[in-house]
Amino acid sequence: MRRRSLVLLGAAGLYSTLTGCGDDEEGFNLKNAPTGTITLGFSQVGSESGWRLANTKSIQKSAEYHNIDLRFDNAEGSQERQIAALHSFIDAKVNVIAFSPVVESGWTQVLTRAREAGIPVVLTDRLIDAADEDLYVSSIGAEFVSEGNLAALYLGLDFQTTKGQVNVVEILGTPDSTPTKQRSQGFAATVSRDNKLRVIDKETGNWSKEGGATAMRKLLRRNPKIDAVFAQNDEMGLGAVTVLQAAGQEPGEKPRIATVDATKAGLQGLVDGKLNYVVECSPIIGDLLMSVVVDLFHGGSVDKRIASEKAVFNKESAVAALPSRPY
Ligand code: AHR
Repeated sequence: MRRRSLVLLGAAGLYSTLTGCGDDEEGFNLKNAPTGTITLGFSQVGSESGWRLANTKSIQKSAEYHNIDLRFDNAEGSQERQIAALHSFIDAKVNVIAFSPVVESGWTQVLTRAREAGIPVVLTDRLIDAADEDLYVSSIGAEFVSEGNLAALYLGLDFQTTKGQVNVVEILGTPDSTPTKQRSQGFAATVSRDNKLRVIDKETGNWSKEGGATAMRKLLRRNPKIDAVFAQNDEMGLGAVTVLQAAGQEPGEKPRIATVDATKAGLQGLVDGKLNYVVECSPIIGDLLMSVVVDLFHGGSVDKRIASEKAVFNKESAVAALPSRPY
């Protein structure tokens, strides 16, 4: 069942949200829609990956297309800076705040202030602690658990005819971020149903190519036999490839490698035979966000959760998709 938020915007600008009521017909009761252009304060996590750059571009382009006045701030990976940006949006009395939280915890205070100021908050890409679910009206992004499920599923199929245990290592994103936690959770759940795959070690690569390389170096030092690598994004997977090659291994043959994102670089890695499976996590969510922003003020109803698209690429599908890949 889809969950909708009922947002009541009162004369004083205060709003309250009721979620999970199970009534799909519930919508918005708007009393104070802005008369001019809608202003949207958006705080981006950073510029840590090709995925993130494409996500920023998508949001900026869609804001322009929808004639939304976008106040954009890049937190460059700092939660402190992200909180400061949210406070500045509240001070500036923007109509809506959206942000992609760098980590899940630590948002209660600033989001309570946004609520008291009557400013609806939309999460993009990542989530915050479940206890604070009432502090935002909608979240738009990928189903990270399922991305982890798919990575494990395809690696499992790959080793179907192999005899004995398959040693898998995981390269993780930033600690306490939703994709790190949920991709790992999904990967573990599917691995637990496979009788050969076994996660023998994990290391953080912080989403970057360099971080992925450092993580792979440590993993190689600790583990003499690695059959497969699950890197939680393309950059880290491609960083791992450079280290494996330098160590005389043949990434794509052994170990087999699965990543998430499906940026141009990731698809190129598949075409070159260095990666084996890339689960798509679409960064193109600008239009979804802008239509939520418009609906908030023009009478539409807004789902509490809006999922973006996904697919799984292998070498053949990457060859077909790469020429027209926009990011
Ligand atoms: O939150 C999405 C993740 O953040 C992407 O998979 C990763 O590349 C990015 O940095």
